[in-house]
This record gives sequence, structure tokens and C-alpha cells, in this order.
Amino acid sequence: MGSCLDRTSNKITTEVEIISHRTEFPITKKEIALLQDSWCHLRSKWNAVCGSAFEKWLIIHPEIIDVFHNLSTELETYTMKDAPTLLKHVRSFEKLFDSVLFNLNNRRDIISTVIIVGKLHHTSFGVTQLYVTSLAKSIALGICTHVKLEIECQNAWTSLITFLADLLKIGMRLAIAEEKVDTN
Ligand code: HEM
Repeated sequence: MGSCLDRTSNKITTEVEIISHRTEFPITKKEIALLQDSWCHLRSKWNAVCGSAFEKWLIIHPEIIDVFHNLSTELETYTMKDAPTLLKHVRSFEKLFDSVLFNLNNRRDIISTVIIVGKLHHTSFGVTQLYVTSLAKSIALGICTHVKLEIECQNAWTSLITFLADLLKIGMRLAIAEEKVDTN
């Protein structure tokens, strides 16, 4: 997570403070324990989870290829090892989870970190909010499909992923609003 924080730490503004105070954390203490206990197992299946998730995601939104412009294969023959930029995203995602899972008791830190990542997605990667929603759903489905977890634990993962995606979108909306202020 260091990379994006390094780039934007001096831009953490009061709006992020306000949001992190206002935002309800939708995960109970019991769910935090379930998430932390299962991460090691889920992490070992992370490539399979993301592989199937990205496959579905690309079928729904083939134009995402333009965002990951180094993609070198046709959609029909798509595999993760042939798509270095997607694989890089899988690692970025995994690192974010490493940091979030370790920090689940530090709500403010998680919220500001993910909002900053969201801002970057708009300003540096040109990602739109719709793609975030569908990726989050595909990852949650990938977890249900590839990892054997108790239902309560699966629900905790879905809640966490939805929460992170919502924060990412808040960051993207803030970045859009900042651009509008700049151009006025
Ligand atoms: C829940 C949704 C998502 C999460 C949690 C997430 C997470 C991340 C993280 C942690 C990074 C690294 C940021 C850094 O450089 O410090 C990243 C980078 C990136 N993301 Fe996402 N992302 C999400 C959705 C998306 C979507 C929907 C797209 C494209 C349509 C996308 C495209 C990219 C690209 C192109 C990069 C730069 C290359 C890379 O580091 O992989 N991301 N993302």
C-alpha cells in the first residue's frame, strides 16, 4: 500500500477525515475474526478467485481491455498468465487485502487508504464506478466458487469487498468533484 500513500499523503484532506467519522463500519468483531482467520487460506486460492472473477468481468465489460491496455490475448483465449497487467492488478488487490486485514481494527486508516486508492483509479487509471461495482461482485462470486468457507465467513467477505468497493467509489467521486472545482 505504500506506493499510493507515498504519492498522495500530503493530499489527505479534511473531507477524508469527515467521511471516515461518518462512515459506518459494516463488519462485526466476530466477522473481523472470521476474515483474519480465513485470509491465509483464501490467499492461497487468490489467483483462481481472481482468474474466474476477471473472466466474468471481461465478458460483461469487454471494453475494460482498454484500461489494461497491455493485454496481449483475444478474449476467448484469455488466461491470467497471458495478461500481465491483469496479473499485476491481482497482486495490487492482494496487497491491499494484506494491509486491510492486518488493520481491521483501525477503521480510519482503512477508510482513508481506500479512498486515496479510489482517487488514483479516477485520476491515474481512468476507471469508472460501474466497473468497480461489477468487479466487486465478480470477486465475491469467485470466492464462493473457489474457496470452501462457512456461510457466515462468506458473508463477511462479501460485506468487506462491498465496503471496499463503496469506499473506492467515494474516492473516485471526490476526484471528479475536485476536477470540477479546478476547472471552474
Ligand atoms: C474493488 C475494486 C478495486 C480495488 C480494491 C482495486 C485495487 C487496486 C490497487 C490497490 C491498486 C494499486 C494502486 C497503487 O498503485 O498504489 C490498483 C491499481 C490499478 N487498478 Fe484497481 N482496484 C479495483 C478496481 C479496479 C477497476 C474496476 C479497474 C479497471 C476497470 C482497475 C484498474 C486498475 C489499474 C489499471 C491499476 C494500475 C495497475 C496496477 O497496479 O495494477 N481497478 N487497484
